[in-house]
Amino acid sequence: MTFEQCDAAELQPEEPFDVVVVFNAVHDQVDPAAMLRRAREALVPGGLFVMNEPRMPDALEDNLDNPMAPFTYSVSTLHCMTVSLAHGGAGLGTGWGEQAALRLLDEAGFGDVTVETVPRDPGNALFATGAP
Ligand SMILES: C[S@@+](CC[C@H](N)C(=O)[O-])C[C@H]1O[C@@H](n2cnc3c(N)ncnc32)[C@H](O)[C@@H]1O
Repeated sequence: MTFEQCDAAELQPEEPFDVVVVFNAVHDQVDPAAMLRRAREALVPGGLFVMNEPRMPDALEDNLDNPMAPFTYSVSTLHCMTVSLAHGGAGLGTGWGEQAALRLLDEAGFGDVTVETVPRDPGNALFATGAP
């Protein structure tokens, strides 16, 4: 096994991957659309892409009863959204939401997406999809 450090938006492995997994790191990308495209292009045909992201609706007004929303928006403002905006990025932020996630995955060329809740982790959604 080897480890390499690189900008995920410029990922170009020598050999394509069977699986790409991203833990809570799409929402603070400078260019999430490019990063998701590179991840899809880095997969073998039929390869699996999995990402873990906060489970919440996109719109603030749909999160008024969400007990995690104050924490999520605070973290986002203090770090995730801000680091992206500081580099002229998309600034999705931690609360970018499930609908936006599905839209970006579709625009990146992924196929059907399954969204699951992991046991004992109700605050996050696990998105699984693949390279067609
Ligand atoms: C919210 S943290 C999540 C860290 C870890 N994956 C976890 O789940 O605890 C987001 C991570 O994405 C990394 N990141 C953001 N943009 C990146 C990029 N373009 N290429 C590689 N890593 C990036 C940041 O450095 C940060 O470590």
